[in-house]
Amino acid sequence: MKKEDSEFNPLALEHDEEEVQLRRDLRPKTFLEYIGQKQIVEMLSIAVEAAKKRGEVLDHVLLYGPPGLGKTTLAHIIAHEMEMPLIHTSGPALEKGGDLLSILTHMENGNVLFIDEIHRLPKVVEEFLYPAMEDFAVDIIFDKGMNARSYRSKLEPFTLVGATTRAGLLSAPLRERFGIFCSLDFYSEKDVEKVILRSAVILDIAIDKEGAQEIARRARGTPRIANRLLRRIRDYAQVRAEGVITRKVADDALALEGIDELGLTSLDKRFLNVIIQFYKGGPVGLEAIAATLQEEPDTLVDMVEPFLLKAGFLARTSSGRKATELAYKHLQIPSHKAGKQMELPKI
Ligand code: ADE
Repeated sequence: MKKEDSEFNPLALEHDEEEVQLRRDLRPKTFLEYIGQKQIVEMLSIAVEAAKKRGEVLDHVLLYGPPGLGKTTLAHIIAHEMEMPLIHTSGPALEKGGDLLSILTHMENGNVLFIDEIHRLPKVVEEFLYPAMEDFAVDIIFDKGMNARSYRSKLEPFTLVGATTRAGLLSAPLRERFGIFCSLDFYSEKDVEKVILRSAVILDIAIDKEGAQEIARRARGTPRIANRLLRRIRDYAQVRAEGVITRKVADDALALEGIDELGLTSLDKRFLNVIIQFYKGGPVGLEAIAATLQEEPDTLVDMVEPFLLKAGFLARTSSGRKATELAYKHLQIPSHKAGKQMELPKI
C-alpha cells in the first residue's frame, strides 16, 4: 500500500468525481451565504457593488492563504456577484504563452479569469499577463533576434482573480498589478461550527450542537477539513450509530480516522516527532525534515506548517524549524528526552 493510501489527509485534493461534486454543492454562491472572513467579504462586496454601479470591470484580485479556507469559493462568488462567467485555470496548467493567449483572446467583456496556484505560473506565461492585466492587451512577438517585431493586440476588459498559498513566491511585477489583496486566515471555531451546521442541512445529516462543536474543535480552522470530517462521521453514524452525529459519535469516528483531540493528523505528529526525536527539538531545515519523512517540502509548507505555526506547536527561526514547549506537552514527550529516541514512533 502506498503511504498516501494508508494516511488520512483531510486536506488532500479530491480527484474523485463524486467528491468534487459534493464539494461544489456545499459551496456558498453569494457573499451573504459565505461564513467567516468578514473583513474580506465586506471589502470584496463593496468593490463588486461599486464596479457594477460604474459599469466597469472589477479590479484584479489576489487571494492568498493556506489551502481549504475558501479561495476558490470566493473566486466563484465574485463572478456570480458580478453576474459574469468564471473561466477556471491554474498556474501549472498554463505551460506556454499560447495557452494563456488562447484563453485571453476568447474572453468577453467583464469575464472573470481565475488562476489557481498562480505562484506556479511559468515565467514565459507570466510575462504575457503583465500587459493583459495592465492595459487589456497582449504583445505578440514575431521572429527572433534582429528581426524580432512585436505587435499589440487589444483584449476585452476582464478581471483576474489569482489564488496562492504563497504570496511571497509571486514576483513583484505580478503582485503590483493586483488592485485588491485578500489574506485569508484560519476560521474561528464558532465560524467552522456554522459551516458544519450549514453543510449538514445541505447533506441532510442529523447532527446536534455538541456534535458540530466537536468537529469544529478538530477541523483546524479549515472549512474543507470540517466538511470532509463531517462526511466521514456521517458514514460512521449511519453504520455504527443511530444515524445522528452526537459528540460521542464524532469522537469515536475521529479516533478511527487518527485525528487527535486538537485535530492533528498522523502526518502533523510525525512532523513534530521528527524535529523532536531526530533533531533534538530543532532548529532544523525544512529539507532535512522532508527527507526524513519522505515527503515533498512543498506539501509540508502548504499542508502541515501553517496550522502548526498558528496553533503554537512550531516556531520558524532564521536557523530552521523548532518544536515549541506546547508540542512536547501535546505529544507527551519530556524535554530532556528530545533526541534520545532515534526510532520514529508509529502514531
Ligand atoms: N463551505 C465551505 N466554506 C464555507 C464558508 N466560508 N461559508 C459557508 N459555507 C462554506
